[in-house]
Amino acid sequence: MPIHSSPSSWILETRKAAYALGLNPAGLLTHRYWGARLPYVEDYPSPFNPVHWASTDGPHHFVPEEYPGYAGTKYVDPTLKVTFADAVRDVVLEFQDFTVTGSPQPELALRLTDSVYPLQVTLHYRLHEELDLIERWVTLENLSDQPILVERAFSAKWTLPQGDDYSLTHMYGRHIDEFRMKRESLTPGLKIVESRRLIPSHRAAPWFAVDRNASEESGEVWFGTLAWSGNFKITAEVTEFASTRVSIGVNDWDFAWKLMPGEPLVTPSALSGYTQNGFGAASRLFHDYVRDVVIPHGKVPHKVLYNSWEATFFNVDEASQSKLAEIAAQMGVELFVMDDGWFHKRNRDNAGLGDWFPDAVKFPNGLGSLIQKVNDLGMQFGLWVEPEMVNPDSDLYRAHPDWVIHFPTRARTESRNQLILNLARVDVQDFIIATLDTLLSENNIAFIKWDMNRGVSEPGWQDAPGDPRELWVRYVQGLYRVWGTLRERHPNVIWQSCASGGGRPDFGILRFADQVWISDNTEATARLHIQEGYSQFLPANTMEAWVTDWGRDLVPLEFRFHVSMCGTLGVGGNLLQWDQAERKLAADRIRLYKEIREVIQFGDQYRLISAQKNEYSAVQYVSKDKSESVLFVFRTYIRDPFNLPMIYLRGLEAEARYTVEGMEGARSGKAWMEVGLKVPLLNLHSKVLRIQRVRTS
Ligand code: GLA
Repeated sequence: MPIHSSPSSWILETRKAAYALGLNPAGLLTHRYWGARLPYVEDYPSPFNPVHWASTDGPHHFVPEEYPGYAGTKYVDPTLKVTFADAVRDVVLEFQDFTVTGSPQPELALRLTDSVYPLQVTLHYRLHEELDLIERWVTLENLSDQPILVERAFSAKWTLPQGDDYSLTHMYGRHIDEFRMKRESLTPGLKIVESRRLIPSHRAAPWFAVDRNASEESGEVWFGTLAWSGNFKITAEVTEFASTRVSIGVNDWDFAWKLMPGEPLVTPSALSGYTQNGFGAASRLFHDYVRDVVIPHGKVPHKVLYNSWEATFFNVDEASQSKLAEIAAQMGVELFVMDDGWFHKRNRDNAGLGDWFPDAVKFPNGLGSLIQKVNDLGMQFGLWVEPEMVNPDSDLYRAHPDWVIHFPTRARTESRNQLILNLARVDVQDFIIATLDTLLSENNIAFIKWDMNRGVSEPGWQDAPGDPRELWVRYVQGLYRVWGTLRERHPNVIWQSCASGGGRPDFGILRFADQVWISDNTEATARLHIQEGYSQFLPANTMEAWVTDWGRDLVPLEFRFHVSMCGTLGVGGNLLQWDQAERKLAADRIRLYKEIREVIQFGDQYRLISAQKNEYSAVQYVSKDKSESVLFVFRTYIRDPFNLPMIYLRGLEAEARYTVEGMEGARSGKAWMEVGLKVPLLNLHSKVLRIQRVRTS
């Protein structure tokens, strides 16, 4: 059993890492250790004892409490903040008991209660032993008959080994420039990474990594994420006593939750891991977890799709789509997706959202005849929807103006001419379930791109049964209910999560969607950066990437293909304008992709030379059995063509021999990894090289 427990001590061990906590002599539940797994149970340090310092700081500033509520002289960043019915505004948690269960995964639950009030807080730990990760969440229960107002309830706090010399890596960005990485020293005080937009947003991502001098390949990295598709908050605190702590949870900004008796509040899961092998290893642990545990179809290779958006925008009709479909099929595309513009009165972005039935002018015969055509061409059919939204110019809004998120006395700020339906409301959820269920039941649809194209404004909820600020959480729960119900009813449909590109990429949404449309930026050289950032926490099979016409005059088609082949390949250019040579090249790359896609989608990814930091970059994928590998190399711009860097392969079996396409001879895996190889390229050129283990028998 990887959980070692005694009445006051708990040690959680995964394959290579360990996490320990326990009661200190004062009875406080404190953190003890997070790092490499140690040989003996006695090796793990004892819990800290409170030390009195001075009247200016409480003992908690020394004691790394596991789940500190705001109370007493605790000025550290708390994980829990509540107001009781009698206006008492702090919480004093005392340990009560624990349970350990073993199946299907080892789990530890520690039960704490307030010393005076009937508030119960259970800390949950689930071990993903082989995947080397620990999942944590918290359940709050009100055992009284009076409501308790919860103002912050994070999912986890982690304490790093004593010291204040850490760096935090996190994401920042904006629309069409998502997943930029920032690594910065943590200094005394509080660093916050958060979203206030209802979705995780392009501006940040619910992921962090903390290190002390780690590189891509070596060094200690402590990392985590929140499986949540709404507002989140990461706080990284360095105390005045050189203790570094990171917390993650639902954002408490503008948040409140009226905790009612008998209605527990369960926080989203936080996943965390530890590795001594750098940022690359941290990413690979998360990649395996997402493929094995999170996404619905983790073992099914994704099809090469065509998406019509950049070719036809809103001008879709049966004729235009049929023409595109014919060419796509000839090139080897397997799934044809019609994007925005197909539904009632949708000629621009100012009308139609909410009325999810085919536009009678564009599709006089419904969708059936186009779908049949696409199927006859040997492809599956997919469709774009944006179910959380409504245009004021729609039948739905005219019938239910009160269904949108709004404050009654304020103007309803439109963004892209649309408003957000309040998915916290059960009637709204039921409407979306019924509408999409009909669409999916009446049509042979294999794939849905689910979009969400604006951030929230005027976050009011008139008839909220609890505190209106519960909207932030209940909206996301409503979304999960809708999506979950549809997934259950249509289990074979593949869903893609899009929010103007990469605004909602997280371990929460990926329980429903198998893929993310990671950016509306399809210019290939920019995309290299975005894709690398995304790969920090999400695997290649979840990353949809189209080859489009963006940068067509400058960037060779082959380069654009190779960039998209690093994820789940799609095509999104206007095929009517592609000449025979372009179509032939496309067909050739699609054929190659089909041969290597399982290595890319399911293999281990190694970022050999970073695209965010270099103009010459390389990324490699290695199949789990190490028999096959694929290397992509890109040169955007380098002045000195004679001084291109060596590429050192990774992940191969040291003693086995491998051939690398275009290179002479078979060499040992170790030689390719230690001696390296050179891949000469001109500016704006790229190569994909297949690497194969030589069979010995
Ligand atoms: C968003 C998406 C695009 C496209 C448009 C359609 O911007 O990110 O890919 O689907 O909406 O309106």
